[in-house]
Amino acid sequence: MSVTSINSSPKVTTTTLLEKKQRREPITSLTAYDYPSARLVDEAGIDVILVGDSLAMVMLGYDSTMPVTMDEMLHHVRAARRGVKHGMLVADMPYGSYQVSNEEGARNAARFVKEGGVEAVKLEGGEKRVEFIHRLLDAEIPVFGHIGLTPQSVHTMGGYKVQGKTLSAIEQLMRDAVALDRAGVCGMYLEGIPREVAAMITAEVKAPTIGIGAGPDCDGQVLVLHDILNLTFAPPAKFVRHYGDAAALISNAVKAFKHDVESGAYPADEESYHLPREARATIETIVDRKHAVGGR
Ligand code: KIV
Repeated sequence: MSVTSINSSPKVTTTTLLEKKQRREPITSLTAYDYPSARLVDEAGIDVILVGDSLAMVMLGYDSTMPVTMDEMLHHVRAARRGVKHGMLVADMPYGSYQVSNEEGARNAARFVKEGGVEAVKLEGGEKRVEFIHRLLDAEIPVFGHIGLTPQSVHTMGGYKVQGKTLSAIEQLMRDAVALDRAGVCGMYLEGIPREVAAMITAEVKAPTIGIGAGPDCDGQVLVLHDILNLTFAPPAKFVRHYGDAAALISNAVKAFKHDVESGAYPADEESYHLPREARATIETIVDRKHAVGGR
C-alpha cells in the first residue's frame, strides 16, 4: 500500500502564514491525532496540523474536552509528529495545563516542544492570557490564540453556544483579538462567532485568523478531520461539511470481513503461505508413509 505525496513545497512556518494573509491566500488547517492521519493530512498539503484537545471527544470518547491530560495529549502529539514533515504542527494546551499558573503553563508548553516536537501551542482566551503569552514567547514558543466559542469554558458559557451576538460581547471579542495580536500570537482561531464579527477581527489584526464556524472572511479555515470524514458520532454542527464517509467505509469493510470469515471465503488459497515444492513433497511422503503404517 502506498500514498503518493503531492507535497514538495517548503516547510510551513509562522512567516508562511503571515505572508499568506498578506497575499490573501487562504490558510488551511485540519486536526490530526495520530501517525496515519497526520501523514495523510500533511501529504495533502494542509498548512497547519492541529493536535486539538477535541481528541478528548473524538478519539477518547469523553463528552467534553475538559478531562484530557497533558500525558494523553503528548502521546498523540508524538505520533502526529512522526507523520508531519511539511505543515506546521501545533498542540492544544489542555484544560488545567495553563489555567493554574503561568509557571506551570510554560513548563507544560515546553514539554510539547521538547517531548512532542511541536512548532507552536494553542491556548484558549483573549485579554486574560496576555501575560502568559509573553511568558511563552520569552521561552521561544510560538502561540496561537483561540477565542469565541472556547470549549474549555463550556461551564462558564453555559453550553456550546455561538458567541459574540450582542454589542458588548462583540466589543469584548474585539478587545480579546487585539490583545492577542499585540501580545504577538502567530495566529488566532475564531470559533463559533457570526461571520460579520470574524470579518471585523480579520480586518483589524495582523495575525492570521483561522475560522471554524466563523464564516468565509477569515484568513483560513479549520475543521476537525473526523467531522469531515463523518467519523464522529454526535450530530454535526451547522458549519461541518462531509467530504467523505469513513464511518460507512469502516462499517462495511468490517461487516464484509466478518461475513467472509464466517462463510469460509477468507482466507483463500492465494492468501495463504505455502511450503516450497521439495519440502511439500517430503511432507506428503511422510504423511503417506504414516497412513500406510497406520493402515497395516
Ligand atoms: O481542539 C480542536 O480541535 C480545536 C479546533 C476545533 C480549533 O480547538
